[in-house]
Amino acid sequence: MSLARADVGARRAATTGTVDARDGRPGRARGRWVSARAGRGGRMPPARAVRTPMKPVEEVAGDASGVGGGLSQQTPFERQYKDYATGYASVPGLAYENMGWVTDVEGEIPKEMEGTLLRNGPAMYERGGFVKSYLDGDGMVTSIAVKDGKAYFRNKFVRTEHFDQEEEQDKYIMPSIFTASDPRPFPFFSRLFGDIIGGDLRRKQNGAYNVLNWGDSLVAVDYKKPYALNPDTLETIGHGACDLSSAMHTSHYRTVTEPDGSRRCVAFLNEVDWRTETTHAVFYEFDENGKEVSRRAYDYPSSYVHDLIVTENYYILFDCPVKIDFPAVFTKYIFEKSCLSELICEDTSRRPLFRIFPRRGDSRDVKTAPADYWCYAYHHVNGFEDKDGNVVFDTCTWDKFTLYFTDICNPNGVDNYPRMKLSRFIIDMDKLEAKHYLLSDTPCELPITSWDYTGLPYEHMYLSTSVGRTEDGVNGPMQALSKASLKIDEQKLYYEEQWVPGDRKFAMEPFFVPRKGGTDEDDGWVVALVHDAAAEKSNFDGRGTEMVIIDAKKFSEGPVARLRLPSYVPFGVHGSWSPKYVAGPPKEDELKRLQEMRSKNDGKPISLGASAAEPVIHATPSPQAIGVGVASLLMGITALSSILG
Ligand SMILES: [Fe+2]
Repeated sequence: MSLARADVGARRAATTGTVDARDGRPGRARGRWVSARAGRGGRMPPARAVRTPMKPVEEVAGDASGVGGGLSQQTPFERQYKDYATGYASVPGLAYENMGWVTDVEGEIPKEMEGTLLRNGPAMYERGGFVKSYLDGDGMVTSIAVKDGKAYFRNKFVRTEHFDQEEEQDKYIMPSIFTASDPRPFPFFSRLFGDIIGGDLRRKQNGAYNVLNWGDSLVAVDYKKPYALNPDTLETIGHGACDLSSAMHTSHYRTVTEPDGSRRCVAFLNEVDWRTETTHAVFYEFDENGKEVSRRAYDYPSSYVHDLIVTENYYILFDCPVKIDFPAVFTKYIFEKSCLSELICEDTSRRPLFRIFPRRGDSRDVKTAPADYWCYAYHHVNGFEDKDGNVVFDTCTWDKFTLYFTDICNPNGVDNYPRMKLSRFIIDMDKLEAKHYLLSDTPCELPITSWDYTGLPYEHMYLSTSVGRTEDGVNGPMQALSKASLKIDEQKLYYEEQWVPGDRKFAMEPFFVPRKGGTDEDDGWVVALVHDAAAEKSNFDGRGTEMVIIDAKKFSEGPVARLRLPSYVPFGVHGSWSPKYVAGPPKEDELKRLQEMRSKNDGKPISLGASAAEPVIHATPSPQAIGVGVASLLMGITALSSILG
């Protein structure tokens, strides 16, 4: 047993929680629906324990559960989805960049909390009358730096080489992955002769899918192409400016504690060549200073992989069976009736399986373990090696595959929306079989744990969850945050509680912030941004965004602080909590530039920022040391297989 595990075992003993009503049998749960109606006004709405958020369709329709109720609805959760969709509005580009102290705070920001909440996601997807799919929008990084009970807000676009080119010409130039329409002059010929026959599937780099501060590096992540950012200002430095932005990796990574107590960041690439039906996987490890210290490459049969689990001795990928929809290439794609991501579909001819790669030593022995449960999975919770040497793998499972995300692009809760569940797999490393256990049937996604326990036995997880679902499988939108807990050797939850942010509000991806000096795994805070579809103080047509801070040990009590941000922040994709205080108020160099810009503008602010303490800076484009890789048609299509990381 490593020192880290022994430490975990000692820390775990004091953990407490309420007792859950589940009986632990897959597909069954006891309990009752608890109304999700949330109060408004000055008081923070209380958390509600939602043990079994199931309600017959007709009752859900009449209740509008969670957003006011009493309205006649055409489909379950229709009103909730209309409110939810307002979180995907396109913002007006560089003029929307903003910075300033967060002055509207309800409650109190914990004085001992220090670090920065970082979020990335598409923010602008309309240019010159051309509308792209939300997920193809230009990435905008949002930061909230917290220290001494105060918070500083910034948002800034990721200036990829394509962003700068399109900004200069004020029109879209590059085709994207999730948009059927093509901005190129002759799209039919471009797709038929350029993409299919020529095999040139270059797509726009929008830098929109994650942001990570590791070592001295701050990086906005696009598929295969991270961009280094200035940690003081969020300005784009460019691809290849540091080790973390040089390695070609997806936007999912794990930070782990080594047996000697040092920390590592593990990133990976999963690239598929469909011509040879081979996946090329690369696992990178970066030390605490951000230097690459390990790189291992493997090839294996083609598959869909989105996220990874890292344990003390293994990298583990969940291989979900997919295939190319070849007829759609010629009947839809070349006619702009489908986008690239729609060309990947379910392959029901084989079972999903786990691929277990050695992390240490000279072994190249990759083991595979088929799962006894049909599902797909994008985002994994955590995993560890148990006392018997088997691997525990916790994840959010989907009952079907989609890379189009219709309910994100145009949500209604019905079309193409998979049924999500919280699942545990135990991989028997002798028999090489993976057995499934249903932990919760509350629709869930975007899981997080304490990073101190990545790859180690752990007890607590935090998730984005739906408030309701119908018996025939229709989910409400992701609206709430949940805490779920289970003992290490048990395959059922002993605690599951859901906090609903309020009327017409929708929580985004949560993060865990450990309390300095804390000893228990859940001694810290859960932080997240919350979209408000009806903000009283809005800079964007009724929309608003809050940051909430919840004491993880007192999850049922709801936030200790709500920070109303000066600007609406679209839902976005992924982000992280940095224990470092970055992107705080302007330092001397930035202040000097701000003053110079002001002087050129008669002392007036340069752009939007009514709530900001300082005007925005429109940075000049950064030189990008980038060579755009040309992929073949099928290789290019499979670039999707790891995207939206
Ligand atoms: Fe992802």
